[in-house]
Amino acid sequence: MKRILTPTGHPAWLATSYADVRQVLSDPRLGKAPLTACRNSTRSGRLLPGLLFTTDGPEHRALRSELLAAMRLCPSRSLLAGFTAYADSLLAAVPLSSDLVSSYASPLAMWAIGTWLGLPPSDWPRCAELSSIVLSVNQFPAEVVEQAQFDLLDYLGGLLSSRPAHLDLLSALAATATDPVPLAATVLATGYETVVAGIANASLTVLTHHDFAMWPSSRVDVRRLIDELLRFAPLGGTLRSRCALVDLQVGNASIAQGEIVLAATGPANRDPAHFPAPDSFRPDREHNRHLAFGAGDRFCSGSQLAVMGLSVALERIALRFPSVRLAVPPDSLRILSGSAEPRPVALPVHWSLTQPRC
Ligand code: HEM
Repeated sequence: MKRILTPTGHPAWLATSYADVRQVLSDPRLGKAPLTACRNSTRSGRLLPGLLFTTDGPEHRALRSELLAAMRLCPSRSLLAGFTAYADSLLAAVPLSSDLVSSYASPLAMWAIGTWLGLPPSDWPRCAELSSIVLSVNQFPAEVVEQAQFDLLDYLGGLLSSRPAHLDLLSALAATATDPVPLAATVLATGYETVVAGIANASLTVLTHHDFAMWPSSRVDVRRLIDELLRFAPLGGTLRSRCALVDLQVGNASIAQGEIVLAATGPANRDPAHFPAPDSFRPDREHNRHLAFGAGDRFCSGSQLAVMGLSVALERIALRFPSVRLAVPPDSLRILSGSAEPRPVALPVHWSLTQPRC
């Protein structure tokens, strides 16, 4: 455990080892609700109280079970066929030299989240913009981040009240949740930018440490590869924040009530005490209990969609463009700093004309 300053300049503890990060992510004595009281302590702007990311204990568990119940009514796997077809249509239209993020990862991520929630496609560009602002750490002024949350809530509230029920997650939330709009806004804000970053970072790893032509055909091997892509996190993973609800010990650190603790999933997923040869990319790595989706009561509720999205997005590239290559040296890529999910701003590639695999 180290003493550091948060990205917005507040003193905090930083956990980087696997054991410490797992504890910080799952220990109920480390909460999220108190972070909303201190504007700009871990990010620019304050997240609204009463959300999944700003509640603890029973209040958090109640919201989480409402969300999971809605996800059971409208599972993300129902998107599989449409998602695959949309990925293929995007790849059929990409210019042979283009940016993988703007021509593929971003529209595909917005399709997944927009379709799952049942949002009209004409609203998707604005939804993507607001989601990126809400998920930023220190890219925008506090007022802009706070206003973006209100705009998302207003938008989703208006949509829900003005349309009949559909077979989508928004309608499922209306059936399961006391207050469906904040939960829908959380799915939109967390789901969009994380999937864009997931596809961009995983593609970068395949382009630099593996080969699309070697995409596996068995489901077990695909799942192992996806887990290794999530663990490897070429840009260092994310920082997750907590506040100590009581005095407690994490690793070598005595943490006082009220202190901020950040958990760095990237270094934890490269901890040599937990992963043999952690800096080697091993597509067939077994027993890969990485922390990319968090741990414990706050384990990512969108992990099924994330794994399905990554598997399909990368598989469709492998089938159509097995010889795709990065068009610039990896160290010249500009990284989207100030976002909760670091990713390349753009990933210029040459989509090779090699015949698609059958
Ligand atoms: C590759 C993509 C993704 C990654 C790496 C990821 C990662 C994470 C992590 C690490 C957490 C735990 C945060 C913490 O402990 O503070 C989390 C929570 C969460 N994620 Fe994801 N996520 C991804 C995709 C998604 C998607 C697609 C959705 C929704 C559609 C989603 C919805 C959520 C929600 C709602 C939570 C909060 C769960 C709770 O507090 O009960 N995530 N995610």
